[in-house]
Amino acid sequence: MRGRPHRLGRLPQQYFTALLARVAEHAALDGEPLVDLGRGNPEVGPPQHVVDSLAAAADDPSAHGYPPFRGLPALREAVAARYAELYGVELDPHSEVAIVPGTKTAICELALVLAERGSTIVLPDPYYPDYPSGPALAAARTGYVPLDRRAGWAPDFVQAPREDVAAVFLNYPSNPCAVCAPTGAFALAVAYAHNTGAAIIHDFAYGDLVFDGRAPRSFLAEPGAKEVGVEMFSMSKTYGMAGWRLGFVVGNAEIVSRLDLLADHVRVGIFTPVQHAGIAALTGPQDSVAERVATYQRRRDRVREVLPDLECEGSFYLWWELPDSLTAERLLTEHRLAVAPGEGFGSRGAGWARLSLAVSDEILEIGLERLARAIL
Ligand SMILES: Cc1ncc(COP(=O)(O)O)c(C=O)c1O
Repeated sequence: MRGRPHRLGRLPQQYFTALLARVAEHAALDGEPLVDLGRGNPEVGPPQHVVDSLAAAADDPSAHGYPPFRGLPALREAVAARYAELYGVELDPHSEVAIVPGTKTAICELALVLAERGSTIVLPDPYYPDYPSGPALAAARTGYVPLDRRAGWAPDFVQAPREDVAAVFLNYPSNPCAVCAPTGAFALAVAYAHNTGAAIIHDFAYGDLVFDGRAPRSFLAEPGAKEVGVEMFSMSKTYGMAGWRLGFVVGNAEIVSRLDLLADHVRVGIFTPVQHAGIAALTGPQDSVAERVATYQRRRDRVREVLPDLECEGSFYLWWELPDSLTAERLLTEHRLAVAPGEGFGSRGAGWARLSLAVSDEILEIGLERLARAIL
């Protein structure tokens, strides 16, 4: 067999695969059970009516054939209705909504449909560690827009590349910085798109998980946003459906049509019962979302009793600048506490760690005891 094509060689090390392996290796060693605050996997699944809807749809003999390539119109309509009601954004369900098998897939597909070989895709720094995979597959260069800590982690577009920029990823509420979009950040992104011709991709994976009475804020509610970009909306965190692989890319019709074109060639829709369950989640009772928000906010407050200075406006993470003597490696090996090392989130992540609130209260308490011991 010939060697692997260059596109595979270009892929960076998969941060989460490596992290999970490292944690599993340590969990297997003798000692007290390891506590893992490194993962971003919702600890509670979707409400029962969503599971029931999947089961009922799977009972229908017609459910087992190929699904429509571009998904159920009723699912696209349900997302459009949500955007209108919750985020104040009008979407045409047929031309401005693409259904994707999880937004992680969309990260790579968006890079493929937006970037030419050699053009630049700009990532926020710090960034979600799966972003660099898209530019790698597309043979694009990677550039960065620093997030300014003193400005609430706003993107500093003055320092972003301006030449041949195909796309910019932004993500609020931010993973890992755990802040909501600072005032003016979306307007600056739209202006940057107009000045450079770049498309804006806003990652809204944690859009609904916002605290202290904040309302979710979609990028598409910004005037002019739909002309220059799209938003990724995921079912994983809002509804605890990470394993179901269901998400959406909404907004700019040209970008949506490019994704649909690619999907016609590389995938065959999404299992129809999963789509019916998605409709049930989006259109049914929403109390589970409010409960999730309340739970994460309560856990955030609990963590702040141990680490008082951590800001956290949304998502289910805390972004922690480690004290001088402490590293994620030491927490793992000396305290049997796994956190996500900040280095994997870009150059500005060095010396930081991401803590997850998506664990049970009991696990969080043990984790906090170990943290308190580690920072003594
Ligand atoms: C910022 C961010 N974007 C996208 C994703 C991918 O979500 P999914 O593929 O489950 O929709 C995640 C998952 O952790 C994330 O944290």
